Amino acid sequence: MNLTDALQVAIAEEVAAMGVGHRELAAAAAALSRRYRGPGPATGAAWTDADVAAYLVTRLPATWAATAAALSAVAAARPAWRPCTVLDVGGGPGTVLWAATRVWGSLVRATVVERDARMLAMGRRLAQRAPQPVVRDALWVASDVTRGDGGPSADLVVAAYVLGELPAAARPTFIRRLVTAATVLVVVEPGTPDGSARVLAARDVALAAGGRTMAPCPHDGACPLAAPDWCHFAARVARTKLHRQLKGGQAPYEDEKFSYGAWASDGMGCEQPVPGRVLRHPRIDPGRITLTVCTVGGTSTEVVTTRDRAAFKAARKVTSGGTWPPTAGDR
Ligand SMILES: C[S@@+](CC[C@H](N)C(=O)[O-])C[C@H]1O[C@@H](n2cnc3c(N)ncnc32)[C@H](O)[C@@H]1O
Repeated sequence: MNLTDALQVAIAEEVAAMGVGHRELAAAAAALSRRYRGPGPATGAAWTDADVAAYLVTRLPATWAATAAALSAVAAARPAWRPCTVLDVGGGPGTVLWAATRVWGSLVRATVVERDARMLAMGRRLAQRAPQPVVRDALWVASDVTRGDGGPSADLVVAAYVLGELPAAARPTFIRRLVTAATVLVVVEPGTPDGSARVLAARDVALAAGGRTMAPCPHDGACPLAAPDWCHFAARVARTKLHRQLKGGQAPYEDEKFSYGAWASDGMGCEQPVPGRVLRHPRIDPGRITLTVCTVGGTSTEVVTTRDRAAFKAARKVTSGGTWPPTAGDR
Protein backbone atom coordinates (compact mmCIF):
# COMPACT_ATOMS: atom_id res chain seq x y z
CA MET A 1 0.00 0.00 0.00
CA ASN A 2 1.39 3.41 -0.91
CA LEU A 3 0.85 6.79 0.72
CA THR A 4 -2.33 8.53 -0.28
CA ASP A 5 -1.90 11.35 -2.79
CA ALA A 6 -3.02 13.90 -0.19
CA LEU A 7 -0.32 12.81 2.26
CA GLN A 8 2.37 12.75 -0.44
CA VAL A 9 1.51 16.27 -1.53
CA ALA A 10 1.34 17.48 2.08
CA ILE A 11 4.80 16.05 2.85
CA ALA A 12 6.38 17.46 -0.32
CA GLU A 13 4.97 20.95 0.33
CA GLU A 14 5.79 21.02 4.05
CA VAL A 15 9.36 19.80 3.47
CA ALA A 16 9.88 22.40 0.72
CA ALA A 17 8.48 25.14 3.01
CA MET A 18 10.96 24.23 5.76
CA GLY A 19 13.83 25.24 3.46
CA VAL A 20 16.30 22.72 4.89
CA GLY A 21 19.35 22.47 2.60
CA HIS A 22 19.94 19.21 0.74
CA ARG A 23 23.23 18.50 2.52
CA GLU A 24 21.69 19.04 5.96
CA LEU A 25 18.73 16.86 4.99
CA ALA A 26 21.03 14.05 3.82
CA ALA A 27 23.04 14.21 7.05
CA ALA A 28 19.84 14.11 9.12
CA ALA A 29 18.54 11.13 7.09
CA ALA A 30 21.80 9.24 7.70
CA ALA A 31 21.67 10.04 11.43
CA LEU A 32 18.05 8.84 11.58
CA SER A 33 19.01 5.54 9.95
CA ARG A 34 21.78 5.04 12.51
CA ARG A 35 19.46 6.03 15.36
CA TYR A 36 16.84 3.45 14.44
CA ARG A 37 19.15 0.65 13.33
CA GLY A 38 21.32 0.74 16.43
CA PRO A 39 20.66 -1.50 19.41
CA GLY A 40 18.77 -0.26 22.45
CA PRO A 41 16.27 2.55 22.79
CA ALA A 42 16.58 5.62 20.55
CA THR A 43 15.44 7.83 23.40
CA GLY A 44 15.72 11.42 24.31
CA ALA A 45 17.03 13.91 21.79
CA ALA A 46 14.65 16.64 20.63
CA TRP A 47 13.90 16.69 16.91
CA THR A 48 15.45 19.47 14.80
CA ASP A 49 13.80 20.85 11.65
CA ALA A 50 16.21 18.77 9.56
CA ASP A 51 15.34 15.61 11.57
CA VAL A 52 11.63 16.20 11.07
CA ALA A 53 12.04 16.82 7.33
CA ALA A 54 14.25 13.72 6.97
CA TYR A 55 11.69 11.66 8.90
CA LEU A 56 8.88 12.77 6.60
CA VAL A 57 10.82 11.92 3.45
CA THR A 58 12.68 8.75 4.43
CA ARG A 59 10.78 7.11 7.31
CA LEU A 60 7.13 8.14 7.32
CA PRO A 61 6.26 6.34 4.04
CA ALA A 62 7.66 3.12 5.52
CA THR A 63 6.09 3.44 8.98
CA TRP A 64 2.79 4.36 7.28
CA ALA A 65 2.93 1.25 5.05
CA ALA A 66 3.83 -1.04 7.96
CA THR A 67 1.07 0.42 10.13
CA ALA A 68 -1.48 0.23 7.32
CA ALA A 69 -0.55 -3.46 6.80
CA ALA A 70 -0.95 -4.21 10.52
CA LEU A 71 -4.28 -2.38 10.70
CA SER A 72 -5.50 -4.17 7.55
CA ALA A 73 -4.79 -7.50 9.26
CA VAL A 74 -6.97 -6.36 12.19
CA ALA A 75 -9.73 -5.30 9.78
CA ALA A 76 -9.52 -8.73 8.09
CA ALA A 77 -9.79 -10.45 11.48
CA ARG A 78 -12.88 -8.41 12.39
CA PRO A 79 -14.59 -7.38 9.16
CA ALA A 80 -17.71 -6.06 10.90
CA TRP A 81 -15.80 -3.88 13.38
CA ARG A 82 -16.28 -0.14 12.85
CA PRO A 83 -14.02 1.80 15.23
CA CYS A 84 -15.19 5.36 15.86
CA THR A 85 -12.28 6.69 17.92
CA VAL A 86 -8.51 6.34 17.52
CA LEU A 87 -5.66 7.22 19.88
CA ASP A 88 -2.17 7.49 18.35
CA VAL A 89 0.49 7.30 21.06
CA GLY A 90 3.98 8.58 20.27
CA GLY A 91 2.32 9.82 17.12
CA GLY A 92 5.19 11.89 15.70
CA PRO A 93 3.77 13.51 12.55
CA GLY A 94 0.46 11.64 12.94
CA THR A 95 1.35 8.72 10.68
CA VAL A 96 -1.20 6.44 12.34
CA LEU A 97 -4.08 8.86 11.71
CA TRP A 98 -3.45 8.77 8.00
CA ALA A 99 -3.08 4.97 7.95
CA ALA A 100 -6.10 4.28 10.19
CA THR A 101 -8.41 6.47 8.12
CA ARG A 102 -7.28 4.63 5.00
CA VAL A 103 -8.42 1.34 6.58
CA TRP A 104 -11.60 2.49 8.40
CA GLY A 105 -13.95 5.16 7.11
CA SER A 106 -15.90 4.87 10.38
CA LEU A 107 -13.46 6.94 12.48
CA VAL A 108 -14.91 10.20 13.74
CA ARG A 109 -12.60 11.27 16.57
CA ALA A 110 -8.80 11.12 16.76
CA THR A 111 -6.25 12.02 19.43
CA VAL A 112 -2.48 12.10 19.03
CA VAL A 113 -0.12 12.10 22.01
CA GLU A 114 3.41 13.28 21.22
CA ARG A 115 6.05 14.83 23.45
CA ASP A 116 8.21 16.59 20.89
CA ALA A 117 7.03 20.13 20.07
CA ARG A 118 8.46 20.21 16.51
CA MET A 119 7.06 16.81 15.57
CA LEU A 120 3.70 17.73 17.02
CA ALA A 121 3.58 21.04 15.15
CA MET A 122 4.44 19.27 11.89
CA GLY A 123 1.79 16.61 12.52
CA ARG A 124 -0.79 19.34 13.01
CA ARG A 125 0.23 21.10 9.80
CA LEU A 126 0.09 17.90 7.76
CA ALA A 127 -3.28 17.03 9.26
CA GLN A 128 -4.74 20.36 8.13
CA ARG A 129 -4.23 19.16 4.57
CA ALA A 130 -6.10 15.88 4.99
CA PRO A 131 -9.34 15.32 3.08
CA GLN A 132 -10.88 13.53 6.08
CA PRO A 133 -12.41 15.80 8.76
CA VAL A 134 -11.41 13.30 11.46
CA VAL A 135 -7.72 13.89 10.64
CA ARG A 136 -8.09 17.67 10.26
CA ASP A 137 -9.94 17.91 13.60
CA ALA A 138 -7.60 15.60 15.55
CA LEU A 139 -6.76 16.62 19.09
CA TRP A 140 -2.99 16.96 19.61
CA VAL A 141 -1.76 16.40 23.16
CA ALA A 142 1.80 17.42 24.07
CA SER A 143 2.74 14.85 26.69
CA ASP A 144 5.25 12.20 27.70
CA VAL A 145 3.36 8.92 27.40
CA THR A 146 5.34 7.34 30.22
CA ARG A 147 4.36 10.06 32.67
CA GLY A 148 1.59 12.49 32.02
CA ASP A 149 -1.59 12.30 30.03
CA GLY A 150 -1.59 9.05 28.06
CA GLY A 151 -4.66 10.20 26.13
CA PRO A 152 -8.31 9.16 26.32
CA SER A 153 -9.68 5.64 25.92
CA ALA A 154 -10.43 4.79 22.30
CA ASP A 155 -11.78 1.98 20.18
CA LEU A 156 -8.43 1.74 18.43
CA VAL A 157 -5.15 2.57 20.17
CA VAL A 158 -1.93 2.39 18.16
CA ALA A 159 1.67 2.71 19.31
CA ALA A 160 3.72 2.67 16.11
CA TYR A 161 7.50 2.71 16.23
CA VAL A 162 7.52 4.16 19.73
CA LEU A 163 8.01 1.24 22.12
CA GLY A 164 11.72 1.14 21.26
CA GLU A 165 12.02 4.81 22.24
CA LEU A 166 10.76 4.20 25.77
CA PRO A 167 13.00 3.07 28.60
CA ALA A 168 12.66 -0.73 28.92
CA ALA A 169 11.42 -0.46 32.51
CA ALA A 170 8.51 1.79 31.44
CA ARG A 171 7.19 -0.52 28.70
CA PRO A 172 5.12 -3.06 30.71
CA THR A 173 3.15 -0.32 32.51
CA PHE A 174 2.73 1.55 29.23
CA ILE A 175 1.29 -1.53 27.48
CA ARG A 176 -0.94 -2.45 30.43
CA ARG A 177 -2.39 1.06 30.42
CA LEU A 178 -2.99 1.00 26.67
CA VAL A 179 -4.67 -2.43 26.72
CA THR A 180 -7.18 -1.15 29.25
CA ALA A 181 -7.67 2.10 27.31
CA ALA A 182 -8.40 0.28 24.03
CA THR A 183 -10.93 -2.03 22.49
CA VAL A 184 -8.08 -3.03 20.18
CA LEU A 185 -4.44 -2.17 20.82
CA VAL A 186 -1.94 -2.37 17.95
CA VAL A 187 1.80 -2.15 18.48
CA VAL A 188 4.15 -1.83 15.49
CA GLU A 189 7.94 -1.99 15.70
CA PRO A 190 10.84 -2.32 13.26
CA GLY A 191 11.16 -5.90 11.95
CA THR A 192 14.49 -6.48 13.65
CA PRO A 193 15.26 -9.12 16.31
CA ASP A 194 15.09 -6.32 18.93
CA GLY A 195 11.82 -4.92 17.57
CA SER A 196 10.25 -8.37 17.43
CA ALA A 197 11.39 -9.09 21.01
CA ARG A 198 9.71 -5.87 22.17
CA VAL A 199 6.46 -6.91 20.46
CA LEU A 200 6.67 -10.37 22.08
CA ALA A 201 7.19 -8.79 25.50
CA ALA A 202 4.22 -6.47 24.85
CA ARG A 203 2.20 -9.55 23.83
CA ASP A 204 2.91 -11.22 27.18
CA VAL A 205 1.75 -8.10 29.03
CA ALA A 206 -1.33 -7.62 26.83
CA LEU A 207 -2.45 -11.26 27.21
CA ALA A 208 -1.85 -11.22 30.98
CA ALA A 209 -4.00 -8.07 31.16
CA GLY A 210 -6.90 -9.92 29.51
CA GLY A 211 -6.22 -9.12 25.85
CA ARG A 212 -6.89 -11.65 23.09
CA THR A 213 -4.81 -11.87 19.96
CA MET A 214 -6.27 -10.38 16.78
CA ALA A 215 -3.13 -10.59 14.60
CA PRO A 216 -0.64 -11.75 13.48
CA CYS A 217 -0.55 -14.84 15.75
CA PRO A 218 -3.30 -17.40 15.08
CA HIS A 219 -3.42 -18.22 18.81
CA ASP A 220 -2.78 -16.87 22.31
CA GLY A 221 -0.25 -19.60 23.13
CA ALA A 222 3.53 -19.47 23.38
CA CYS A 223 5.34 -18.15 20.30
CA PRO A 224 6.82 -21.16 18.48
CA LEU A 225 9.69 -19.19 16.93
CA ALA A 226 13.05 -19.70 18.59
CA ALA A 227 16.11 -17.47 18.18
CA PRO A 228 17.81 -16.79 15.83
CA ASP A 229 14.41 -16.75 14.06
CA TRP A 230 12.11 -13.83 14.74
CA CYS A 231 8.64 -12.80 13.65
CA HIS A 232 8.57 -10.08 11.02
CA PHE A 233 6.79 -9.15 7.83
CA ALA A 234 7.48 -6.76 4.96
CA ALA A 235 5.57 -3.87 3.42
CA ARG A 236 6.62 -2.57 0.01
CA VAL A 237 6.88 1.22 -0.25
CA ALA A 238 7.40 3.37 -3.34
CA ARG A 239 10.38 5.73 -3.04
CA THR A 240 10.17 9.33 -4.18
CA LYS A 241 13.02 10.96 -6.11
CA LEU A 242 14.08 12.88 -2.98
CA HIS A 243 13.98 9.66 -0.93
CA ARG A 244 16.32 7.97 -3.45
CA GLN A 245 18.65 10.96 -3.43
CA LEU A 246 18.83 11.02 0.37
CA LYS A 247 19.16 7.30 0.98
CA GLY A 248 21.01 6.33 -2.20
CA GLY A 249 20.25 3.53 -4.67
CA GLN A 250 17.99 3.61 -7.69
CA ALA A 251 15.34 1.06 -6.71
CA PRO A 252 11.85 2.57 -7.13
CA TYR A 253 10.68 0.86 -3.92
CA GLU A 254 11.95 -0.49 -0.62
CA ASP A 255 10.68 -3.25 1.62
CA GLU A 256 10.03 -2.10 5.17
CA LYS A 257 10.44 -4.97 7.60
CA PHE A 258 8.17 -4.70 10.60
CA SER A 259 6.88 -6.67 13.58
CA TYR A 260 3.50 -6.10 15.12
CA GLY A 261 0.86 -7.37 17.49
CA ALA A 262 -2.84 -6.56 17.93
CA TRP A 263 -4.91 -7.53 20.95
CA ALA A 264 -8.59 -6.99 21.73
CA SER A 265 -9.69 -6.37 25.29
CA ASP A 266 -13.46 -6.63 24.78
CA GLY A 267 -13.39 -10.41 25.16
CA MET A 268 -14.68 -10.86 21.61
CA GLY A 269 -11.53 -12.17 19.89
CA CYS A 270 -11.56 -12.51 16.10
CA GLU A 271 -14.66 -12.77 13.94
CA GLN A 272 -12.55 -14.52 11.32
CA PRO A 273 -9.92 -16.57 13.17
CA VAL A 274 -6.81 -17.08 11.10
CA PRO A 275 -5.91 -20.78 10.64
CA GLY A 276 -2.29 -19.97 9.89
CA ARG A 277 -0.10 -16.93 9.22
CA VAL A 278 2.55 -17.10 6.49
CA LEU A 279 5.97 -16.28 7.90
CA ARG A 280 8.80 -15.25 5.58
CA HIS A 281 8.70 -14.86 1.85
CA PRO A 282 7.41 -18.07 0.20
CA ARG A 283 10.09 -20.14 -1.51
CA ILE A 284 9.21 -20.61 -5.16
CA ASP A 285 10.68 -23.49 -7.19
CA PRO A 286 9.44 -24.76 -10.56
CA GLY A 287 6.04 -26.37 -9.92
CA ARG A 288 6.39 -26.10 -6.15
CA ILE A 289 5.93 -23.39 -3.50
CA THR A 290 7.09 -23.86 0.08
CA LEU A 291 5.43 -21.84 2.84
CA THR A 292 6.38 -21.53 6.48
CA VAL A 293 3.16 -21.13 8.41
CA CYS A 294 2.54 -20.25 12.06
CA THR A 295 -0.42 -22.30 13.34
CA VAL A 296 -2.07 -23.18 16.63
CA GLY A 297 0.12 -26.29 16.70
CA GLY A 298 3.40 -24.45 16.06
CA THR A 299 5.18 -23.61 12.82
CA SER A 300 4.70 -25.93 9.88
CA THR A 301 6.15 -26.23 6.40
CA GLU A 302 3.52 -26.44 3.68
CA VAL A 303 4.57 -27.64 0.24
CA VAL A 304 2.10 -26.76 -2.51
CA THR A 305 2.52 -28.26 -5.97
CA THR A 306 0.79 -27.80 -9.29
CA ARG A 307 -1.14 -31.01 -8.59
CA ASP A 308 -3.55 -28.93 -6.50
CA ARG A 309 -4.15 -26.14 -9.01
CA ALA A 310 -6.40 -24.01 -6.80
CA ALA A 311 -3.99 -24.16 -3.84
CA PHE A 312 -1.03 -23.47 -6.14
CA LYS A 313 -2.75 -20.42 -7.57
CA ALA A 314 -3.44 -19.14 -4.04
CA ALA A 315 0.13 -19.88 -2.92
CA ARG A 316 1.48 -17.80 -5.81
CA LYS A 317 -0.51 -14.84 -4.55
CA VAL A 318 0.20 -15.15 -0.83
CA THR A 319 3.02 -13.15 0.72
CA SER A 320 4.57 -13.03 4.17
CA GLY A 321 1.88 -11.93 6.65
CA GLY A 322 -0.91 -13.46 4.58
CA THR A 323 -3.15 -16.25 5.86
CA TRP A 324 -2.98 -19.95 5.04
CA PRO A 325 -4.79 -22.09 4.03
CA PRO A 326 -6.58 -19.67 1.72
CA THR A 327 -10.20 -18.84 2.29
CA ALA A 328 -12.71 -19.01 -0.54
CA GLY A 329 -12.12 -15.32 -1.33
CA ASP A 330 -8.33 -15.81 -1.72
CA ARG A 331 -8.60 -18.51 -4.39
C1 LIG B 1 9.89 6.84 15.40
S1 LIG B 1 8.75 8.09 15.78
C2 LIG B 1 7.25 7.27 15.27
C3 LIG B 1 6.22 8.24 14.87
C4 LIG B 1 4.94 7.62 14.29
N1 LIG B 1 4.23 6.85 15.28
C5 LIG B 1 5.26 6.77 13.08
O1 LIG B 1 4.99 5.57 13.12
O2 LIG B 1 5.76 7.31 12.10
C6 LIG B 1 8.58 8.00 17.53
C7 LIG B 1 7.84 9.19 18.10
O3 LIG B 1 7.55 8.92 19.48
C8 LIG B 1 7.81 10.11 20.20
N2 LIG B 1 8.10 9.73 21.59
C9 LIG B 1 9.16 9.05 22.04
N3 LIG B 1 9.08 8.88 23.38
C10 LIG B 1 7.92 9.48 23.76
C11 LIG B 1 7.28 9.66 25.01
N4 LIG B 1 7.84 9.19 26.14
N5 LIG B 1 6.12 10.34 25.04
C12 LIG B 1 5.55 10.83 23.91
N6 LIG B 1 6.13 10.70 22.70
C13 LIG B 1 7.29 10.03 22.61
C14 LIG B 1 9.00 10.74 19.50
O4 LIG B 1 9.12 12.12 19.80
C15 LIG B 1 8.67 10.47 18.05
O5 LIG B 1 7.91 11.50 17.48
